[in-house]
Amino acid sequence: MTEQSPNGTVAYDIADGVAWVRFNRPDKRNCMSPTLNREMDAVLAALQFRDDVGVLVLGGEGTAWSAGMDLKEYFRETSAKGLGATRQAQAEAYGWWRRLRWYQKPTIAMVNGWCFGGGYGPLFACDLAFAAEDAQFGLSEINWGILPGGGATKVARELLPFRKAMYHALMGENVDGRTAAEWGLVNEAVPLDRLKARVAEVAAVLLKKNPVALKATKDAVRRVGEMTYDNAEDFLIRAQEAADSFDSEGRKEGMRQFIDEKSYKPGLGAYDLSKQKA
Ligand code: COA
Repeated sequence: MTEQSPNGTVAYDIADGVAWVRFNRPDKRNCMSPTLNREMDAVLAALQFRDDVGVLVLGGEGTAWSAGMDLKEYFRETSAKGLGATRQAQAEAYGWWRRLRWYQKPTIAMVNGWCFGGGYGPLFACDLAFAAEDAQFGLSEINWGILPGGGATKVARELLPFRKAMYHALMGENVDGRTAAEWGLVNEAVPLDRLKARVAEVAAVLLKKNPVALKATKDAVRRVGEMTYDNAEDFLIRAQEAADSFDSEGRKEGMRQFIDEKSYKPGLGAYDLSKQKA
């Protein structure tokens, strides 16, 4: 059954361990208003530790994933109220992207259509991203006279080589889902009518993995990017030891099923979680 946030800017369903969350302002191409930002944060917070949610997918209703920040409600109306209102709106937007970057469960962006500007914040916040081949990605800020803020420039530098990031930010030209996949903005592009099935397939694989190991791994991949090799080596030892304190049985069970029981091969798939003692 589809649930909605109080003002309807966010919709979601939970099915088979997956929370299918959607930007839900299709008439406004899912651009992010302060209301949407507040409601998305509340929905993400409410879903984060639910036992029936193992993976979260972020999609968009209608023809857009998200047309970026709402130029009227997020920029013009907010700046008319002064600096305090602007900072508040920024904190709310950046806040839910940050929550999503460090989310407890693995997250997948399912980019069905337009993805512009501020949309790069949640795009990067999701651990994996799949796009429709014909989805359109753009740093359109330059076309209306600002720099790509709200992290969008950083996302371009994180995900793209320098020349591509610079061209993308300066030219204001869009790339389609296929090019976005070639460039590394998303993992894969598939025809729109296969997008949900492909994402469901990926989510199903993730649901079979040890959830403590998934959280430790996704955080580690983000954290080590900013570390020297030696710092990363040290961090990863400590991160694994911290994960062990939440789940001391997981790795032992994984080893037991391989070495003693010979019931699976880690090189070919995950151990059977259902046999693990709590
Ligand atoms: N901010 C505010 N309103 C937006 C919006 C945004 N980012 N994106 C779309 N909308 C609104 C339009 O103003 C229009 O409102 P209206 O029906 O009240 O007139 C409605 O959404 C539909 O948009 P429209 O432009 O008619 O849809 P389209 O399918 O022809 O074009 C886009 C889609 C995404 C190409 C186009 O809406 C667009 O360029 N949006 C702005 C993208 C952008 O620069 N975002 C970066 C912000 S950081």
